[in-house]
Amino acid sequence: MRIILMGGPGAGKGTQANPLVERFHIPHISTGDMFRAAIKEGTAMGLKAKSFMDAGGLVPDEVTIGIVEERLAQPDCAAGFLLDGFPRTLAQGSALAEILDRLGIKLDGVINIEVAHEVLIPRLTGRRICRTCGSSYHMVFNKPEKEGVCQCGGELYQRSDDTIETAENRLNVYNKQTEPLIAFYEEKGLVKRINGDQPIDKVFQDILQALG
Ligand code: AP5
Ligand code: MG
Ligand code: ZN
Repeated sequence: MRIILMGGPGAGKGTQANPLVERFHIPHISTGDMFRAAIKEGTAMGLKAKSFMDAGGLVPDEVTIGIVEERLAQPDCAAGFLLDGFPRTLAQGSALAEILDRLGIKLDGVINIEVAHEVLIPRLTGRRICRTCGSSYHMVFNKPEKEGVCQCGGELYQRSDDTIETAENRLNVYNKQTEPLIAFYEEKGLVKRINGDQPIDKVFQDILQALG
């Protein structure tokens, strides 16, 4: 299974990615997670990405395309993968098409998780992430059993780009730079539209059904 998960910031890409990769036994490739890991490790790439992420903008295409190309070449991607948060610009979409052509691979579907913008902001500002396993929680919509603690025992923290100002900026960037990609994939007949403003389990069931 080769899937792209699309949707605005806070649409639920990460939340749905976890059960999907478990179901299909495929790696979860999140460029956001890769950048956050690089920042934590203090690599040159992380240093470069940080200023763009803190402002809610996009990391330059050449950096982003490079890391995805490298990742897709790894053996665990041979039988499938789930891309979360990539591609995000038309240039990234074209680059991905070239990479997949070269590898002789076709996508099975582009899942577009649709959520109204006014619903997204409170999702972002109330989100908490596990430092250990990366799971997403929400202070109101998806509370952890024990406050501040993940199911795995890890400590929960708030992403530095989940402030109101940065979240609004990310939404604007999404509208301008990422939304045009939906038409790009519509033309290829790949887009599966999912109502993301439903309980998390129901969204997951709808995605499974769309993937057939
Ligand atoms: P990235 O990490 O990809 O962030 P994003 O796209 O802004 O998306 P999020 O991770 O914020 O949202 P999500 O859809 O995963 O939502 P989640 O499931 O957590 O990117 C971060 C930054 O990295 C970018 O701004 C950019 O700078 C850079 N970057 C990354 N990729 C790049 C690329 N390709 N090119 C250039 N730059 C790139 O859910 C959100 C919250 O809602 C959670 O609290 C969750 O519990 C809750 N929730 C989820 N589903 C539901 C539901 N159905 N009902 C109620 N609450 C729900
Ligand atoms: Mg995410
Ligand atoms: Zn955890």
